[in-house]
Amino acid sequence: MSVDVRDQFPVTKTRLTSAVTGAGMPLTYFDHGASTHAPESVLHAHERFIREAYSNVHRGAHHLSIVSTEAYEDVRWKAKAFVGARKDQEVVFAENTTDALNLAAHLMAERPGVTLVSAMEHHSNDLPHRAKGPVVHFGTDENGQVDMRDFEKKLAEHKVKLVAITAASNVTGIRPPLDDIVDLAHAFGAKVLVDGAQALAHLPTDLSRIGTSGGPDFFAAAGHKAYAPMGGAFLVAPREVLDHAEPYRPGGGTVKFVALDDAMWVDGVERHEGGTPNVPGIVAMGAAIDFLRGIGMEAVRAHELELLKAMFAGMEQIPGVRWLGTAPPEDRVGTVSFVVDGVPHALVSTVLDNEYGIATRNGCFCAHPYLVDLLGIDDPEMVRERIKAGATTREPDFPGAARASLGIYNDIADVERFLEALHTVAAKGWKGDYSWADGTWVHQRPAIAGTPAGA
Ligand SMILES: Cc1ncc(COP(=O)(O)O)c(C=O)c1O
Repeated sequence: MSVDVRDQFPVTKTRLTSAVTGAGMPLTYFDHGASTHAPESVLHAHERFIREAYSNVHRGAHHLSIVSTEAYEDVRWKAKAFVGARKDQEVVFAENTTDALNLAAHLMAERPGVTLVSAMEHHSNDLPHRAKGPVVHFGTDENGQVDMRDFEKKLAEHKVKLVAITAASNVTGIRPPLDDIVDLAHAFGAKVLVDGAQALAHLPTDLSRIGTSGGPDFFAAAGHKAYAPMGGAFLVAPREVLDHAEPYRPGGGTVKFVALDDAMWVDGVERHEGGTPNVPGIVAMGAAIDFLRGIGMEAVRAHELELLKAMFAGMEQIPGVRWLGTAPPEDRVGTVSFVVDGVPHALVSTVLDNEYGIATRNGCFCAHPYLVDLLGIDDPEMVRERIKAGATTREPDFPGAARASLGIYNDIADVERFLEALHTVAAKGWKGDYSWADGTWVHQRPAIAGTPAGA
């Protein structure tokens, strides 16, 4: 089943000029894991809100304030329905996934016990928990999947209050077995936080049906990874937890009454949404949810899986290219991190961009422990020592990978262009003359004949 929504995305009309060859080339965007572009309907909703309904929410009796409050609150229901949250869960708005995950860590901070975090997590689903109390990690296996034996062992060994687990890795796209994780965690009395950053726009999500024990307790995701502009995100959280935790961001909007020596906090979501929210961003996120629902998440998934399979099949034919993790495409979202023998990851991404207009990401993808395992780095201490001595992870010989991540408007022609380009990169057949300068690879333009040196 193929989806064709390409024409709805203005970015698909973008053409670039190669800094190396001077040739025009289409932009092929394979950086959806970082942020997605918005389709016309979302751009229109965003702009329309700013033009016609712009006003602060919740605190006004005038027409526009009522309109903007309704538009904002409407997205709460849309988001809740879109991810299949339970009746006793609420949607709290946040700025980005990191903010939503910090909110979850905050909500659980005062509860006794440790947070059990997988070694596959993006730093944003690890460091917030470390900042709030003790954290124990469970490992990944030789395939790049979470190690369920280690998970169960750690659950039995520690008093775990919260399990933090991603719905899909931002590095390998691998999807941990959430049904089992949720049920096991619940059996041990722990709550579960799912980082849905890489899932919201790519997989059908029906939270209450994950496992057989009611689904995860928390779910975090952001609009900028789901075809909305940056600035809108949300956390699904149990109402009971929201009502009992201290306000996340105390301030305007979080109180019923304030005296000089006292503050009475409101309950529910507003308790944690202090200050003026990014209303246009949230409204646009609602439009992005409408857009995705219009296609249907089963169709989205089928389309991206088809492309992912084509990508793996093509990459398999390219000598010197190795992707990270061994899970089959069915167990991943459309994100592939790969290394090319003898070519630094930053140079891979630079050549793909400069000579083919293909946007990939490279580095360690804010998942250093996972990368250390996946790349088989025997001596992570050496990396630590080099950083201490002033090196940055951008150095050309620093471990890392390049990453191509698919979105709904990519098509098979994009994948074919990528595979052709990767062939050339793997054969070191690029045209530019690249050198490392100031933390990046640059193509040295040949001096134009007759131009005096230094002119
Ligand atoms: C799995 C995962 N979690 C969290 C984040 C952080 O997301 P944000 O940039 O929205 O804070 C990312 C970003 O790439 C991610 O991939």
